[in-house]
Amino acid sequence: MTTDQTHSRKLPEGMEIVPFTTDHLEGAWGLSQAESWPHRVEDWALTLSVSQGVVAVCNGEIVGTSLCSLFGDVATLNMIVVDGRMRGRGLGRLMMEKIIAIAGDREQRLVATREGVPLYEKMGFVGKGRIVQHQGIVGPVIATQETVRVATADNIEEDLKTICQMDRAASGMSREKLFANIALSGGTVFVVEGGFAMLRRFGRGEVAGPIVANSTETAKALISAAAARCEGSFLRLDLPAEYELSGFVESLGLAHTGGGLCMTRAARERDPQDMKTYALVSQALG
Ligand SMILES: CC(C)(COP(=O)(O)OP(=O)(O)OC[C@H]1O[C@@H](n2cnc3c(N)ncnc32)[C@H](O)[C@@H]1OP(=O)(O)O)[C@@H](O)C(=O)NCCC(=O)NCCS
Repeated sequence: MTTDQTHSRKLPEGMEIVPFTTDHLEGAWGLSQAESWPHRVEDWALTLSVSQGVVAVCNGEIVGTSLCSLFGDVATLNMIVVDGRMRGRGLGRLMMEKIIAIAGDREQRLVATREGVPLYEKMGFVGKGRIVQHQGIVGPVIATQETVRVATADNIEEDLKTICQMDRAASGMSREKLFANIALSGGTVFVVEGGFAMLRRFGRGEVAGPIVANSTETAKALISAAAARCEGSFLRLDLPAEYELSGFVESLGLAHTGGGLCMTRAARERDPQDMKTYALVSQALG
């Protein structure tokens, strides 16, 4: 048996916990495939591009992953997976301790699967609202009145500044690097007075998120604009349940297929804001 430096529990023989690097992406993808998660290697890479984390390696094989995405005063903890053969031995808790240490004194957020909730509760996370996952083949989209425009190369720098400000107001997170990475890797940015949306390749098709807006009507206009780009193809949205947009996205052909529990640790009070997050970048990235 070997002992991890920062934890009293014994690691199984031959296991080590090492920093997560791009060399681990393929192995991490294999773990998420075993869970039937839709992520492509590119989706893992996008998350890693704004994160630090650890992998558990046993005899050369990756058997656990966890990442901590750093967004200013907030960290999102994500991609926490333990190989089915290794569960119940304290590995999940150990990896959580590692990424909580990376988060430091930031507010910590995550979206928990049903399997993850008991572990997170034991580590001091508190449930706060649900995410509803909708996806499917987009049907016909009726155009709305609002003028939504697509950011182009000519104005992308200015638009990125504006959308990051709107996002910070809505979420409390500083996600400049993430949004630049999405825009630079072929994502589409939709901008409207009082909101914005991003659309990018993810998993089985496209994902629309974040959707940030100062009213439900503006959020619907942005969702319609993103959905119109995907008519006849696969689209996913992860919506905070509190804004009750499920009926609207179902009318576009996107069925309710799952979700998760939003949990926080070391949460900070924030003043109420007009800007709100109507859809997440992903369950991992908030
Ligand atoms: C969630 C997951 C990471 C837990 O990993 P694990 O290595 O089995 O967890 P641990 O053995 O470290 O358990 C840590 C604690 O949580 C408890 N726990 C873990 N899973 C539990 C469950 N399903 N029900 C009740 N308690 C559970 C353990 O009893 C343990 O308590 P203790 O530290 O007081 O003894 C693992 O089940 C997994 O990979 N699930 C599939 C992927 C997933 O859903 N990940 C979460 C994404 S948000």
